[in-house]
Amino acid sequence: MSPVKVKKIVCIGAGYVGGPTCAVIAQRCPDITVTIVDINEARINAWNDKDFHLPIYEPGLEDVVKSCRGRNLFFSTDVDKAIQEADLIFVSVNTPTKKSGVGAGFAADLNYVELATRRIAAVANSNKIVVEKSTVPCRTAESMRVILEANAKPNCRFDILSNPEFLAEGTAIPDLHNPDRVLIGSLQTPEGLEACQSLADIYAHWVPRERILTVGLWSSELSKLAANAMLAQRISSINALSAICEATGSNIDEVAHAVGHDTRIGPKFLKASVGFGGSCFQKDILNLVYLSESLHLPEVAAYWRQVVEMNEYQKSRFSKRVVDTLFNTITGKHIAVLGFAFKADTGDTRESAAISLIRDFQKERANVNLYDPQVEESQIWQDLSEASPELPLETIKKQVRICSSSMQACKGAEAVVIATEWKEFKEIDWEVVYQSMNKPAFVFDGRLLVDAAKLTKIGFKVVTIGRGEL
Ligand code: UDX
Ligand code: ADP
Repeated sequence: MSPVKVKKIVCIGAGYVGGPTCAVIAQRCPDITVTIVDINEARINAWNDKDFHLPIYEPGLEDVVKSCRGRNLFFSTDVDKAIQEADLIFVSVNTPTKKSGVGAGFAADLNYVELATRRIAAVANSNKIVVEKSTVPCRTAESMRVILEANAKPNCRFDILSNPEFLAEGTAIPDLHNPDRVLIGSLQTPEGLEACQSLADIYAHWVPRERILTVGLWSSELSKLAANAMLAQRISSINALSAICEATGSNIDEVAHAVGHDTRIGPKFLKASVGFGGSCFQKDILNLVYLSESLHLPEVAAYWRQVVEMNEYQKSRFSKRVVDTLFNTITGKHIAVLGFAFKADTGDTRESAAISLIRDFQKERANVNLYDPQVEESQIWQDLSEASPELPLETIKKQVRICSSSMQACKGAEAVVIATEWKEFKEIDWEVVYQSMNKPAFVFDGRLLVDAAKLTKIGFKVVTIGRGEL
């Protein structure tokens, strides 16, 4: 036997991972037809929008979709038909942290993966390579294999691969065009290795072969969790040091610069912040904690848990610093919060630090003027309602006002809190902002974004993460 030459791909799940990833595959592999399917009709309609108002904001994505939609890239809600026609299926559905039941708060909810897997088994009538793309706990591929084999039609073979995605939001397209590595895990059987080869051949359309790493199935699954856990651990480490800097009057940027010059450590991912967010870091670490506990490794579990606890501490430490600095009360004061997305260049708000900050400010009965250049208003209300389930939305809306510009948010406020590092916040005319604010006017920089000396000269009281008083 020789590896199957893949001609048709289906991606189940048109979200932040499946959408951009498979759009780039279609762009780079004109000889392959790629269909991205989703049960969410509104999402598919948005992917098919004639004016390219796509459902996710990602720089460069529109150009990719424009280059191949209708050529060899299709978006559809007809999941079954796409499964039947495909040689290779990416499973790229959501895997949120479980909210109830065994492992609640830690384990991944695999319900969506299981339902998608059952659908594949139910409708497939030819051999398929099934690729888990969603981040999943170790050994999920094994569960998928059992489900597929138990429900497969006669003469239908399924080869399961793990192919975790390492793209970061905001830079998804350059990350996909030029990945550090592509990781493919397979069973080390002749069939498994052939399936692995078929997938590697797809990526080899544009990724140098030496960057396509092939490993065992379980190593691949664990590597994804490990990479995210180690990245998050770096941020929690620098954030822990930022607390020491604030207490000692040293400067976290200088410390990061000095530390990062060690080539063994490197300069990336050492930016102190108000706390990491995003759909992956916390979820994957909690997953690792759950895995460690299930394997009776409590010390290992405690080690990784601390990375998340440090992140929670960083967020609450920052909101406490705001309250302390504003003379121990923010009741009735106006606070401009700039940024709601979990990082710049994305409209994604999952686990965003801004959500926790605003919830804390609400508890102190402050008024919040919020501005974000990308996040949809409906998403903001949904996130704030989920963060404070005890408050009716009407009450939240009385405390939080969504503004259409930073200028509007800052006008009449006592303090500005920078929660996301949007580039446009670097271009704010602080002289004008200062004139429009109540005095004393404070800026709390949670993203090491502003020139604190310059703002101090204008008259602001500036409080920066990882820096003692100027
Ligand atoms: C992450 C991983 O980087 C990516 O490889 C994986 O596939 C998915 O999870 P993502 O969550 O999209 O990607 O963004 P990332 O750039 O990693 O940022 C995560 C959070 O850490 C953001 O809130 C960001 O602001 C914060 N961060 C990042 C810092 O606070 N400091 C840093 O130095 C870097
Ligand atoms: P991620 O960030 O992992 O891409 P998202 O939540 O953005 O997660 O996207 C996952 C998508 O998967 C959602 O649009 C959801 O509707 C879709 N989905 C979940 N289960 C199925 C399924 N069984 N069939 C098709 N699509 C599904």
